[in-house]
Amino acid sequence: MRITIIGTGYVGLVTGVCLAEIGHKVFLHDINQEKIKLLKSKKIPIHENGLLKLFKKHLEAKNLRIESDPNEALQASNIYFICVGTPQLRNGKPNLRYLFDISNKIKDYIDKNKLNNNTFIVLKSTIPPGTTKELQTKIFKKDIYKNVYLGSNPEFLREGNAVYDFMNSERIVIGSESKEFIRTIKKLYSPLSKKSKIFITDPQSSELIKYGSNAFLATKISFINEMSKLSDKVGGNIDDVSQGIGMDKRIGNEFLNAGLGYGGSCFPKDTRGLAYTFSKNKIPSKIIQSVIDINNKQRKYFFNKILKRFSKQELKSKSVLFLGTAFKPNTDDIRESVGIYLINMISPMVKNILIFEPIAKENSINALSKLNNVRFQKTSISKIDYDCDFMIIATEYPEFIKIPHKNLKKLKDRVVFDGRNILNREKLEKNGIEYIGIGK
Ligand code: UGA
Repeated sequence: MRITIIGTGYVGLVTGVCLAEIGHKVFLHDINQEKIKLLKSKKIPIHENGLLKLFKKHLEAKNLRIESDPNEALQASNIYFICVGTPQLRNGKPNLRYLFDISNKIKDYIDKNKLNNNTFIVLKSTIPPGTTKELQTKIFKKDIYKNVYLGSNPEFLREGNAVYDFMNSERIVIGSESKEFIRTIKKLYSPLSKKSKIFITDPQSSELIKYGSNAFLATKISFINEMSKLSDKVGGNIDDVSQGIGMDKRIGNEFLNAGLGYGGSCFPKDTRGLAYTFSKNKIPSKIIQSVIDINNKQRKYFFNKILKRFSKQELKSKSVLFLGTAFKPNTDDIRESVGIYLINMISPMVKNILIFEPIAKENSINALSKLNNVRFQKTSISKIDYDCDFMIIATEYPEFIKIPHKNLKKLKDRVVFDGRNILNREKLEKNGIEYIGIGK
């Protein structure tokens, strides 16, 4: 099938490349000409496992084409995947401007060309419940645009694992009032139907599934983070608590790791978006607001552990080794990264900060360029300079767990603040290192 992807950010790019991989002919379009130029030069703007290889493969095989002209992009197919950003306004309200802009462009294109063949508009962008319906009533009025079919088809891709997730998704959710839409989009995904269950529902429920999934996972994280404070107080080990709770299959142990809290471009935005949707509908939602509040406080709780261990006077002369600025491992994304937040908080209080970040270094250098006591290490975790007064871990990179023995020796008599609870207290203490984790 021929498919046009509108918006080549992280979601659009992964979706487009993976749709080409399952046998479709895909046209990628973006209003950002810089991005188009980059894609045309066979480069991609994000770091995502396996994506570049597939992107090049399908460009060369001509299953993927980059379209800079909006009319040509719309002409190329009759299935439009809308993957534009829905950034947030101050009050948590998602900004749907780009979504409405492109919908109006599609409408104008249909009007101008007097099209009356079937057109399918697939909404991939994360949108508040009711948005598909709103587009239908405000732009693609059913009595006028009889052959334009709309539906919601949210993504459940984790950054860093997005290609794998697309190919091996547990569920593909399609929410539409139109049988024609459901039939077509189901066919489009049929190469994945052996691995993924295709779940059909109405658009509002589909939109709620997306918000609900992210908010539920965020709730698990905030729950275990709240428990970690109690564990600190009574002298428990939150890792064991989490493991013990998660052994109950009804609960499961994923997203139960206590630490600095969640960051990134999805959980913070979607929990705020859901809280906004509750309040817009005049339904008080204590759970979601608490999840957000606990997450915001968790990083301060950790910061206070540093302030408890060292006085402000002592901190002034301290050199810090800081591991991890990406919001999670294996991505170059630093949006709402707790690591970046902490560096901004700590930098004015200490002598200097030496940072090691394996993947998101370039973005982090730009984000922290105003801090003049911050430096980045160039090499790998086994070769970095461990000379510091204390160390902080802010991202759960697996390689940080395996700090070589010879380097642990260099940390003797130092303090390690483990914001992701990934290191082993006993091992560190055996090497004369003081260990401070969260809830253990
Ligand atoms: C999340 C969801 O997991 C995806 O299913 C969804 O499609 C995506 O948002 C989206 O809406 O686009 P992502 O933001 O890539 O994916 O990251 P996650 O792996 O979910 O991690 C989010 C944050 O939670 C990270 O900062 C991570 O460090 C933190 N986290 C995760 C914890 O603090 N504890 C945990 O136990 C798990």
